[in-house]
Parts: sequence; structure tokens; C-alpha cells
Amino acid sequence: MHIVMVGAGYVGLVSGACFADFGHSVTCVDKDANKIDALRRGEMPIFEPGLEHLVASNVKAGRLAFATDLRDPVRDAEAVFIAVGTPARRGDGVADMSYVRLAAREIAAAMDGYTVVITKSTVPVGEGDEVERIIRETRPEGDFSVVSNPEFLREGAAISDFKRPDRIVIGAEDERAKSVMTELYRPLYLNQAPVLFTSRRTAELTKYAANAFLATKISFINEIADLCEKTGANVQDVARGIGLDNRIGSKFLHAGPGYGGSCFPKDTLALIKTAQDYEAPVRIVETVVAVNDQRKRAMARRVIAACGGSVRGKTIAVLGLTFKPNTDDMRDAPSLSIIAGLQDGGARVRAYDPEGMDQARRLVHNVEFAANAYEAAERADAVVLVTEWDAFRALDLDRLKSSLNSPVLVDLRNVYRADELTKHGFTYTSIGQPSDSGSGEPADSSLNAHAA
Ligand SMILES: NC(=O)c1ccc[n+]([C@@H]2O[C@H](COP(=O)([O-])OP(=O)(O)OC[C@H]3O[C@@H](n4cnc5c(N)ncnc54)[C@H](O)[C@@H]3O)[C@@H](O)[C@H]2O)c1
Repeated sequence: MHIVMVGAGYVGLVSGACFADFGHSVTCVDKDANKIDALRRGEMPIFEPGLEHLVASNVKAGRLAFATDLRDPVRDAEAVFIAVGTPARRGDGVADMSYVRLAAREIAAAMDGYTVVITKSTVPVGEGDEVERIIRETRPEGDFSVVSNPEFLREGAAISDFKRPDRIVIGAEDERAKSVMTELYRPLYLNQAPVLFTSRRTAELTKYAANAFLATKISFINEIADLCEKTGANVQDVARGIGLDNRIGSKFLHAGPGYGGSCFPKDTLALIKTAQDYEAPVRIVETVVAVNDQRKRAMARRVIAACGGSVRGKTIAVLGLTFKPNTDDMRDAPSLSIIAGLQDGGARVRAYDPEGMDQARRLVHNVEFAANAYEAAERADAVVLVTEWDAFRALDLDRLKSSLNSPVLVDLRNVYRADELTKHGFTYTSIGQPSDSGSGEPADSSLNAHAA
């Protein structure tokens, strides 16, 4: 099939390359000429494991091409995906639909013959109706269907998530569109990936419900981590103890500095706004967002506490900047709030990230960037592990210690063990578990006797 992917960002580029790998003929279109030029030269605009090879092999096979103008490729396409950004609108957090709607208008003007227009971008429930209205307005005689096919891939594991998804959700209102979608995803049917055909609105809402639920799991375990610190319990054991229950599941129960990234923050906000507009508020999600916002800043206070109550004039080494490992995506990364909090407290920040520093340079100010973890730690007064890149999992602790002014390690991802770090002479603070400079003695349990 001939497919066009409008938007060659994380989702458009990965999905486009994967569809090409299935044997379809794909053109990825992006208005950003620099991105398209780079892709034509074989340079990836994002860091995603395996992507460069996948793109190169499909370009070589003649199944994958790039363009800045969608008109020619859309004319020949049976399926056109909209995979443009839907960022939170400045000021109110409502999902900004301007890119989606502009893309819909451009597709409408170019399409020729029956075309399935598929929204892969994450859009508020009901946006498919608006896309349909725009296309109908632009092309009253047009022969088309509008489908919702939200994407669930995770950055850092995007290719395997796309090729071996837990499920594919397709919101289609007519049989013709369903049969095109079936054909598009046929290679995955053969792998027996569950395909869920739903109404368009159901598919749209499913995406938000999934992200809000995952964000809720993270905020839940983060609050339990705080309670563990006050009571002397260990959040990792609690997470394991509840996660082995199949009804709960062990994923997304890692206590840490709060969620970030290109999806959870904006999607939770957008869901809250949609729910309020429909007078069906999602109060749990409202709380999740508030808990997460406060948590990121609280992590800076945790570092300050680990440094004896002040970081004024001190140098703090920050290891890991991206919102999670194996991506260079810095959007809404917790490191941004943590760095700002440390700088507000008078600290100098020196940072290292294996892939995120180019992106980070655009978002942080007065941060010195180092070439590796040890250089970041050179004469620093504390090290903060913010993102659990593999490169930080087995640091040479003696070397790290000898680089530092004072051996203070704040481990916001619970990568290390307190006894190991203490043995190496570090003052170690982690999340939700006993640590030698954590939150002090557990509270007197008699205070909580009423709970018994
Ligand atoms: N990043 C993820 O992990 C992920 C996962 C699932 C869903 N999503 C959703 O997918 C959508 C895209 O996210 P992303 O992270 O790929 O965004 P992105 O910002 O990386 O890429 C979007 C691209 O679209 C291009 N674009 C915008 N308008 C255009 C137009 N009219 N024509 C051509 N190109 C245009 C931009 O130049 C940009 O390159 C969002 O709705 C997001 O919520 C993202």
C-alpha cells in the first residue's frame, strides 16, 4: 500500500520506517526542511536505538522516502497518517490542535480517490469529527474516511513496541476504512497482535486513559515512597509485593523523581481539560498532575538537604538529563525542574547525559556540560543521579569518590544499594528506602496507633 506519514518526529518516523519494513511504500513528510535534508543524508534527527539501520535499509530497498511537500505523495496514497505534534497550549494546558487541523486541510486539498486519513497523533476525544469536518469543508465531493489509530510506542524501545505491540487500537466508523486498516496492519495480525476495533471516539479516549493510568501508577508509588521514608519501610519491596499481584502488575511501580517526557505531562493535562469541558472531571488525574509537579521540585530540596541544608556556592554534578534512558528527548524532563531548583538555591550545576546534551543546551542556562560522569563529578560537592542510563549503573565508585569534593550521592532512581555506597564511604540518599542520610528516624508508630 502507498502510505504517507505527515510529521516525521518520533512517532511519524518510527511508524513510517516500520510500515516500510512491513513492505508498504511510505513517504514521511515534514515541514522542517532541515529534518528532511538530514534524513535524506541518512542522519537521524532523534536518538532511537535501531532507527538508523531500519531507515537506511528501507530507503535502500526503495520503500521509504522523505519529502517536505505532501501534495504529490498524498495524491497517490491510500492511507495518510497525521503524526504531527499536539503540545499543551501555553497558558491553559489544552491540547493544541492547530498542527493537526492544518495537516487535515493540506491533506484534503491534495487527496485523490478514496483516502483513509488516520490520526496517529494523540488528540482529544471528538477531534476526529473535527478532522472529518475540515476535510469535508475543503473537499465537499471528497471520498474519504477518518480513523483514529493512537500510538502506544515508548521512546527508547519504539521499534520493538511498534512491531510487537501489546495491542493495536483502531477507531473506525465504516467497513471500507476497517478493511484498509486491516491491510495496513496485516503483518502484525500474523504475529497475533491483538487488534481492537472501536468507535473513533473510544479509540481517542483510550489513548488518554492509558497514559493517565500509567501516570497514576507512577505518582501512586512516589507517594508510597515518601510514606516509606517516614515509616522505615522499603518502597522497592512494597512495589514488588504489590506488583506480583496480576491485578496490579509490576511495571510503572518504580519510585523516582516524577514522570516527564513528551506524553504524560501534556496528555494528563489535556485529559483534565477535556473532562472538565464535558463536566465529568477526572479528579484522580488532577491530583496525579499536582503530585507530580510538586515532586520534581521536591527532588531539588532533597539534594539540598543531602548537602547539609544549603547548596549556595556549591557545585552539583547531575548525571542524566533526559526524561528516561535511551532517548535524547528532554521534553518536560524532571532534570529541568531539579536543575532550576538547585540553581535557585545558589548551586553551580555541571551535567552529563549520554545522548541528551544537545537538546538540553537549548533548555537550561548556566549549566556546564561534561564529557562523562567522572568529569561532571570533578571537585563537585554532590552527585545526583537523575536518569538511569546504563552508563551510570556500574560507576567506578572509588574513582567517583576521588573526583568529588565531598562523597555525597543522591540516587533518584534507586540504582545503587545503600550498604554498597556506605561501604565506599559515600553519604547516600535514595528514594523510599532506608539510607544513611535519608529522612531520619522513622516516625513513632504509636502516633499512628489508631491505624492498627
Ligand atoms: N513521542 C512519543 O513517544 C509518542 C508516543 C505516542 C504518541 N505520541 C503522539 O504522537 C504525536 C507526535 O509526537 P512526536 O513526539 O512524534 O512529535 P514531534 O514533535 O517529534 O514531531 C512532530 C513533527 O511534525 C512536523 N509537522 C508539524 N506540522 C506539520 C505539517 N502540517 N506537515 C508536515 N509536518 C508537520 C513537525 O515539524 C515535527 O517534526 C503527538 O500527538 C504525541 O502526543 C507521541
